Amino acid sequence: RLSRSLSISSLSGLPLWEEESLPVQDLLLFEVSWEVTNKVGGIYTVIQTKAKITVDEWGENYIMMGPYYEHNFKTQVEKCEPPNQAIKAAMDSLNNNGSQVLKTWLLVMSDYKVFFPCKPHFIIYFMQFNIDREAGQRQIYHRYCLERAAVRCAHVFTTVSQITAVEANHMLQRQPDVITPNGLNVRKFSAMHEFQNLHSMNKAKIQEFVRGHFYGHLDFDLEKTLFFFIAGRYEFSNKGADLFLESLSRLNYFGCVFHHACQNQESLKGQAVRKQLWCVTIGSPLIMLSCVNRGEIPDMSKILDRDDFTIMKRAIYATQRHSLPPVTTHNMLDDSTDPILSNIRRMDIVFHPEFLSSTSPLLPMDYEEFVRGCHLGVFPSYYEPWGYTPGECTVMGIPSITTNLSGFGCFMEEHVSEPSEYGIYIVDRRFRSADESCNQLTQFMFSFCQQSRRPRIIQRNRTERLSDLLDWRYLGRFYMYARHLALSRSFPSEFKMDHLNIAQTQGFRYPRPSSVPPSPSASLHSTPHHSDEEDDDTYDEEEEAERDRQNIKAPFTLG
Ligand code: UDP
Ligand code: G6P
Repeated sequence: RLSRSLSISSLSGLPLWEEESLPVQDLLLFEVSWEVTNKVGGIYTVIQTKAKITVDEWGENYIMMGPYYEHNFKTQVEKCEPPNQAIKAAMDSLNNNGSQVLKTWLLVMSDYKVFFPCKPHFIIYFMQFNIDREAGQRQIYHRYCLERAAVRCAHVFTTVSQITAVEANHMLQRQPDVITPNGLNVRKFSAMHEFQNLHSMNKAKIQEFVRGHFYGHLDFDLEKTLFFFIAGRYEFSNKGADLFLESLSRLNYFGCVFHHACQNQESLKGQAVRKQLWCVTIGSPLIMLSCVNRGEIPDMSKILDRDDFTIMKRAIYATQRHSLPPVTTHNMLDDSTDPILSNIRRMDIVFHPEFLSSTSPLLPMDYEEFVRGCHLGVFPSYYEPWGYTPGECTVMGIPSITTNLSGFGCFMEEHVSEPSEYGIYIVDRRFRSADESCNQLTQFMFSFCQQSRRPRIIQRNRTERLSDLLDWRYLGRFYMYARHLALSRSFPSEFKMDHLNIAQTQGFRYPRPSSVPPSPSASLHSTPHHSDEEDDDTYDEEEEAERDRQNIKAPFTLG
């Protein structure tokens, strides 16, 4: 019953807890979400990655609640007894009333976030909408009322980004109290270049897959091939797949990328032939590689025994294809009407639709490995309250394209002076027409293709340097602030905050990398050089990294 004083101070506009933390031993924190242990999209990533810092603060008093799915339960949850009597009593009571409550608790938690699924076209034009009428016409009036009531009743209302805040203000008539940007657990390697090695290793795996897919159909130099990718739930326009495909098609006219066409068993066949070739080539890989490249049968009778030779001959003839490689690696439902398939058939592009997994027979890589092996993530979303995918690229040191209609893109615009210098390209989808945005995206990709290897390596180093900005160790404080604010509003006599002003993120910006000269062209492109030189004697990346570390102080004073 003691009055508790919470103190917060501000460093460059950022809240920083100074003194005692909350007396969490007396409190329970519940986080309730459909995506607890249930991966659908980005919300799962928020919950999963934020768990560690929340447990650091709340320990066993943090409880997550989510839906029960047998498979998820088996693979992601450890069974244990309820951590305290109150929870045990609540579970017993629910069980006695016919609900099945699992005696299984992974972690404990809750925040005061209210999620509201807004419809994307609400972004630019929603100010002209009669929201009630629109909700009624779309038959979501009941959900809309629930959301609105929840938002009105919440002690503290948060959104993940400024653009969602504006949206909430118009649609739900409440300004969020705190913006809680989505963070990640940033993995620091002891050797600074380890993430570059990982890029190389994983790129080799993707190259292997690409060889299998294209061999016999097309000849190109994999050393001069760049891997761009898009990833996300299957929302053709929201996720900007439409813009991406159209830009790839425009790039083809610039003399860059991709090719296509036919049936999917071809894809498996190509990969199988490729594997067979590798099997028989152990011992003489160089000779075999050159022969595969030329599609000829070399005189190998002195190198391989008779059986090996027969297998190899069949495999090499199997690579002699007279058709184009498959347009997609999988059989797709609604093949003829699928929006992505219809577009790629028109545009000469290959499509690999898959939730990546290291157990996949075709491309055995998990999502993280795949991202690391690529050169550029392309996420030209039309609607994205936050949008994890480009942030995930950033912490792995992989450049990406995002938009100013995504929370992440706006956050980067706000906190990084020249994001493109750091390998974060932001397409303007807010103030330009679709055609103009598409041209801008095409231009970003085209400029990226013009860089040689060394500038790409330098750019990856810079991208990776932004990781700290996205680390939960830094961004977690906004959740802390929101929770503390809720307590001080609910129990003002017990919980006081010295400063009840809203947590601010304004005021902090990453300067441009120290070796990049301030010039108008700096905003057009992002690397120190993009001629075809491989070495630049004047550039010392360790030195630049050190200089930048000294310039960038604000959010990194965390313990
Ligand atoms: N993701 C994944 N495997 C994939 C593609 C995506 O695990 O093959 C994950 C990705 O890492 C990210 C999430 O799915 O964490 C998508 O989140 P985002 O915020 O970009 O989009 P949302 O689904 O929330 O709209
Ligand atoms: C990393 C590796 C280098 C490799 C490079 C390839 O930086 O450490 O050894 O040459 O990746 O880069 P690229 O952009 O051509 O895939």
